[in-house]
Parts: sequence; C-alpha cells; structure tokens
Amino acid sequence: MTDTPFDPAGDGAEMSFRGRMSYGDYLSLDAILDAQHPLSSAHDELLFIVQHQTSELWLKLALHEMEAATAALAGDRLDIAFKMLSRVARILEQLNGAWDVLRTMTPSEYSQFRDSLGQSSGFQSYQYRAIEFLAGNRNPAMLKPHAHRPALDERLRAILARPSLYDEAIRLLARRGYDVGEERADLSQQRDENEALIGAWARVYADPAGQWDLYELAEKLVDFEDYFRRWRFNHVTTVERIIGLKRGTGGTSGVAYLRKMLDVVLFPELWRVRTIL
Ligand code: HEM
Repeated sequence: MTDTPFDPAGDGAEMSFRGRMSYGDYLSLDAILDAQHPLSSAHDELLFIVQHQTSELWLKLALHEMEAATAALAGDRLDIAFKMLSRVARILEQLNGAWDVLRTMTPSEYSQFRDSLGQSSGFQSYQYRAIEFLAGNRNPAMLKPHAHRPALDERLRAILARPSLYDEAIRLLARRGYDVGEERADLSQQRDENEALIGAWARVYADPAGQWDLYELAEKLVDFEDYFRRWRFNHVTTVERIIGLKRGTGGTSGVAYLRKMLDVVLFPELWRVRTIL
C-alpha cells in the first residue's frame, strides 16, 4: 500500500493565486530574475553577474540604514542609530562572506568573458560611492563617472551637500560640550584630521561609564570601518587572484589602484586615539 502524497493544502497552505498577490508579485521576482543578461556563452558569466547584482542589493539596504542612522544621530536618537549601524556591519559581513563564492572562479574562466564587460567596472557603482560619501570619504572627483546620469549625479551631490555620518557624530560630541575643533566650511570636501577631535574621543574612551552612549557610538563606527576595510581587502585579493596585475576594465591600474584605496581612512581620529590611550 502506498501512502497518499502530502498535500500542503490540507495544512492550510494557500494554493491558488489567480487574481491575488503571490510571493513573486510582492517581491517583483519577474523583474529581478529576468535581469541577468550574459553577453557571452561562458558558463561563469552568470556567477559574475549574480555576485554583482546581489552585492548592489545589499549596498542598497546598507545605504538605507546609513541614511536613517545619520538622521537619528542628528536627532540625538543614539538608540535608533545603534540598531541601524549594527545592521550595516552585518550587511558588510555578509558581503565579505560572498567573496568565497566568487573566488571559485579561476583566471581561465574569467578571461572567457572579460572582453564582454567593455569599460564597465564596479568603479562606476554609484551606490558604493554614495556609501563612501555618506560615511565621510568625500572625493568630488568620483562624481565624474555619473555625470551622464543626471538623477544619480544629483543624488550623489545631495549626499555631499549634507553632513556625513561622521560629521553628525562629531556634531553630537559638540552638543555634549566637547571641543571638536572647527567644522570645514564646505561639507562636500574631504575633512582634515583634527587634533581637538582626537582629544574629545580620548576623553570618551578614558571614562566609558561616564558617557556610555558616546563610547558605544565610537565602537559602532569603528566596527563599520573594520568591516568595510575587510571588504576592500577581500576585493583586492580576489581581484589579484583572478586578473593578477592587469589593468582594470574601468581603466585604472587595477590591483595597484585598489591597494591605494586600502589606505583610505573613514574615521581617522577614532583610529589615532587608540595610540594615546
Ligand atoms: C572577478 C571579479 C572582480 C574583478 C576582476 C574586479 C576588478 C576591479 C578592478 C580592477 C577595479 C578597479 C577599477 C577598474 O579599473 O576597473 C574594481 C573596482 C571596484 N569594484 Fe571590482 N572586481 C570584481 C568584483 C567586484 C564585485 C563582486 C563587486 C561588488 C559590488 C565589485 C565592486 C567594485 C567597486 C565598488 C569598485 C570601486 C572601488 C574604489 O573605487 O575604491 N567588484 N574592481
């Protein structure tokens, strides 16, 4: 005697979606799953596309959380900002784990479709640039690859016109009575490292219990930068493993350029203060 196959309808599962919103409708899965268009017949091109697209989706969420965390700091809602910054660190951790999938692609496999990419490169990722600008790494030269897309260019410029996440952390310290030095006149420009601010963070670290929330904020920012650095390091190592010292499709020196980017520091005073504690 054979058992009757299990029918989830008997357990209450909804099985009929004619004229009703289903899982795929809610998530716009048709649009997402129809958005992979390999330009070659190489087997590994789909991996390359999916890896970039999923990274961009996570970057979208990271940006959403960072924008809200920046606003929360501006409104003195550190509790809300902490929740969001913890999530951003987890997203970066997720992106760091994702390199393990891409690392399974060898140079021979990548070279089968690399020419199809033309001049396109992650260097032109506007969401990545938005995250850098929002965090506080502000190099207006990086706007140029987006000049042909007015809506994206405008969004990046709007981020540059507002205080960064780090600017809001510094303004908060100032509101709490710490000497943080002068804010730069033009927010769209890179900040200069500031000795007074190192002193302010040193006071916070000298007495964590006295201002626990500022101490926690400092550590959340360091966490963010720590995970971000790991992303950059994983990227450059994966790139070297796959293309060696070839130039990038985006035109830069490739690994040499990416190694230079490893020296970028988002929150310099938070790293400097460690030496004097
Ligand atoms: C086979 C895999 C990959 C290779 C060979 C590669 C290679 C490169 C190279 C050479 C650059 C320097 C710019 C250029 O001249 O093109 C670059 C930049 C970049 N790539 Fe990748 N990449 C890979 C995967 C990824 C993935 C999965 C992402 C995820 C979004 C990504 C995001 C970026 C970003 C954001 C930049 C700009 C970094 C900056 O300006 O600091 N890349 N990539």
